[in-house]
Formats: sequence, structure tokens, C-alpha cells
Amino acid sequence: MRIDIITVLPELLKSPFEASILKRAIEAGLVEIHFHNLRDYTTDNYKSIDDTQFGGGAGMVMMVEPIDKCISALKEARDYDEIIYMTPDGETLKQGIANQLSLKKNIIILCGHYKGVDQRVRDHIITREISIGDYVLSGGELGAAVLCDAVIRLIPGVLGNETSALTDSFQDNLLAPPIYTKPRDYKGWKVPELLFGGNFPKIEKWREEQAYKRTKERRPDLLDD
Ligand code: ADE
Repeated sequence: MRIDIITVLPELLKSPFEASILKRAIEAGLVEIHFHNLRDYTTDNYKSIDDTQFGGGAGMVMMVEPIDKCISALKEARDYDEIIYMTPDGETLKQGIANQLSLKKNIIILCGHYKGVDQRVRDHIITREISIGDYVLSGGELGAAVLCDAVIRLIPGVLGNETSALTDSFQDNLLAPPIYTKPRDYKGWKVPELLFGGNFPKIEKWREEQAYKRTKERRPDLLDD
């Protein structure tokens, strides 16, 4: 998979890809991340990427031309499955979206700033708009990092144990059950007995029950979907 990230602040986005699972996925050649600075696609001496709103109003708007130039250059080199714009009014990121995107070959992620981008970018260039939640960030970069993390860990081969993404919270609209490790007893805080016996069907049944109970208590909305 190849992900092209368009940003005015590439430095804000580098570190998530320089550690742990994402770093290993890149080193193993399972994913390529390319950053593109919008300022490299400006045409004026000031390298402007934004301007004031037509019709008046506070806040700057990202201009269509540098974005179009950058994305057109990328599209000339290869086909893209999705051109995603990170924005608080996009569809809310859910595990299902991450699952879908993990199967794609090439995607572009555009990070917004200021008030956002000229509507014509959204009407004519963008194929999908994603929000990471109902709050406003100062730019799309942190949202892009969250999206990339959620997607990349699902690419086959990225997680050591292939089944481990399948047992994540949300994979079957259920939260994950409680988990324990050594010691069995810490200050009298005990691990449930049934996890020791090696009765795997019974353990599996307990986990399913716990996942359902936790979901019902914390996220009953997931059970309606
Ligand atoms: N940019 C600003 N706020 C955002 C959000 N909640 N999700 C994605 N991109 C954003």
C-alpha cells in the first residue's frame, strides 16, 4: 500500500511513522508513506496556500490551485483508490472504514488548515471525507496520523500475530473482553480462576460473554448497528 499525505506541516506528522508498528511496516515494505508540502506547489513569491473568504468572514481558506497541482502531479504517476480530506464534518472514522481502506493500493490524504479548503476542492477532487471525532483540531495532520495508524496495522503481515487484529475491540461491533497476565494474584487482586484451567471452549465462551457485557454497559449503541 502507498499513502501520499499532503500537508503544510510535514514535521507534525513524521514521528508517528518513526516508531513501533508503523516503522516496522514501512521497513518491511508493507506500506510506503510519502509527504508532500503544499508550499512546493504554489505559484507566487510568498508561497501562499491560503487567502481570505469571498463574501467576508473570519479565517483563511486553503486555495484550490496548489492542492489541484499537487494532486494532479500524483495522479499522473499512478491511479488512486481514494483521495481523502480530513475534516471535522466528514464521516466519523470507524473500524469498518479502516478495514476497507487497508485493502486499497494507493490513497491520498489531504490535511486541512485554517477554516478549511475551498469547496471546489471537495466538489471536484476529493472522493471521501473523514473526521476522527466530534471536536475540532487545529489541522488535519493529527487526524491523518490516527487514520494511518488504524489502517496500517490492519494490512496483512503488519501485526506479528495475524489473528490479533481480528480480536480487537470493534471488529465484530463488540468491545474486547478483559485481559490478564502474570502474576495470578497481586495484592489479593485475583485473575479469574477459569483462565488457568486450559479449558479453551469455556474460556472462549467467557470472553464472548464478557465482551457482550462490556459492550452493553459502555457502548450499547454498538449493539444496535
Ligand atoms: N481537522 C480538524 N478537525 C478534525 C477532525 N475532528 N477530524 C479530522 N480532521 C480534522
